[in-house]
Amino acid sequence: MDSKINKLNNRIAQAHLGGGQKRIDKQHAKKKLTARERVNYIIDEGSFEEIGILVTHRTTDFGMENEVYFGDGVITGYGTINGRLVYIYAQDFTVFGGALSETHAEKICKIMDLAVKVGAPIIGLNDSGGARIQEGVRSLGGYADIFFRNVQASGVIPQISAIMGPCAGGAVYSPAITDFTLMVEKTSYMFVTGPSVVKTVTNEDVSSEDLGGSQTHASKSGVAHKTSSNDAACLDDLKTLLSYLPQNNTETPKKLDFKLGDEIRDVLSTIVPDNPNKPYDMHNVISGIIDADSFYEIHKDYAQNIIVGFARLGGRSIGIIANQPQYLAGVLDVNSSKKAARFTRFCDSFNIPLLVLVDVPGFLPGTDQEWSGIIVHGAKLLYALSEATVPRVTVITRKAYGGAYDVMNSKHIGADLNFAWPGAEIAVMGAKGASEIIFKNEISNAENPIEKLAEKEAEYAEQFANPYRAAQRGFIDEVILPNHTRRKLIKAYAMLEDKKVVLPKRKHGNIPL
Ligand code: COA
Repeated sequence: MDSKINKLNNRIAQAHLGGGQKRIDKQHAKKKLTARERVNYIIDEGSFEEIGILVTHRTTDFGMENEVYFGDGVITGYGTINGRLVYIYAQDFTVFGGALSETHAEKICKIMDLAVKVGAPIIGLNDSGGARIQEGVRSLGGYADIFFRNVQASGVIPQISAIMGPCAGGAVYSPAITDFTLMVEKTSYMFVTGPSVVKTVTNEDVSSEDLGGSQTHASKSGVAHKTSSNDAACLDDLKTLLSYLPQNNTETPKKLDFKLGDEIRDVLSTIVPDNPNKPYDMHNVISGIIDADSFYEIHKDYAQNIIVGFARLGGRSIGIIANQPQYLAGVLDVNSSKKAARFTRFCDSFNIPLLVLVDVPGFLPGTDQEWSGIIVHGAKLLYALSEATVPRVTVITRKAYGGAYDVMNSKHIGADLNFAWPGAEIAVMGAKGASEIIFKNEISNAENPIEKLAEKEAEYAEQFANPYRAAQRGFIDEVILPNHTRRKLIKAYAMLEDKKVVLPKRKHGNIPL
């Protein structure tokens, strides 16, 4: 029996060494953790159970039968993070550069299937040279098996990808379908084709970092939701993200203990400037409302004219969407509409109530936006909010102009409670623009057109640049004091806790993509 036990122990020890000490040292020299170190770091101590540690590839082409590693370049299994069950896979760059073979893919699919059956999040730690070149189409088939499962699991269990090394070619499409993509700065990159192919096809000279590094995807493309300075920070971020989420779409996120106490926040009365054209930082409104230090921002450096992220309010997990007057005056454009729409749909899939903070001058005009399809992209946000059935509350802090008023979680598209601060301006447009149009003749015929415009502007502002017309019609449920906002919202979400909406039966809607 001893020899049999030794045989097992030897195999496990070999598996733990991955592609061998030399390659482990190479990984460390690049300031990267190994796959096993990553799993041990993120999973609660002693809770990890590995599945498929003895799996090997089945390839015999190119002498591959002589190069076999237990585990075949991916660690798969389950464990807990802060006591909650998760499924995890971590690609091992020390084995064939973490390249994906048929069996490597089968291991990932096996735990994805378990995650869906049991109803727990799946985490993918990606560090791979892509399809295992020696396996050809079998490896491509493996990718497609994963993509298919990503789609089936979408909206059923949270799926989170961390990119902790290369992720190129077909490999990028799994993270793209998952709910969140986190990247490690300087050591990770994602692209459909690398710099040398780019040079051949388009004659562009571009580095890996510029083409698909973390900063590129966090600020230009929006592919990455968050970046971190190293592996450990990325895994810490992932843990924090999970704490806001439920296990699956039939549950609500865990509510933290909360004691009433600091509901009146006077700081909220001092943030919005008197001059309606002066910017201010909506982050200050957010931190003024939520539980201390609880904001977890998503897409911080992308489409900064809108802010999205998770927070806690009275211990509850909520999703926040907020115009940012400090950036492009908080205008809605193609990228901000897409960013907010995707976030809305995630929150709605996983029963996370939404708070929408509004200070929006409208949609961004211009050929660039029109030719980029702002009509369709703006409609995404309108569609996503209209179909969301989670509790939805709106606070208008200042401007809510034009079509953007409708889009930003107005009463008309199904918001449950709509509040406005006393300085809110809910109108078709700003007083100046409106006066120039409707009093055009009167102004141009006046002895002093500038004085006349100022007079008409003041008249229009008095009539329409306020929240009271909307409140009279019930489009605003209550005009509230800014310093009472937190208290109002805590009560609102408690009241809406058991909200139920039954939608008409259909296969699925046709969101303008
Ligand atoms: N299939 C099989 N083996 C692969 C592989 C792949 N797709 N990608 C890398 N490897 C192997 C390498 O042969 C090397 O093996 P070794 O340890 O026995 O020497 C090991 O993984 C590490 O690769 P290496 O090139 O030394 O690492 P690097 O950090 O310098 O470069 C990459 C990493 C990913 C940029 C580079 O390996 C690469 O370009 N790979 C091919 C990517 C690709 O075109 N994939 C197919 C399209 S999806």
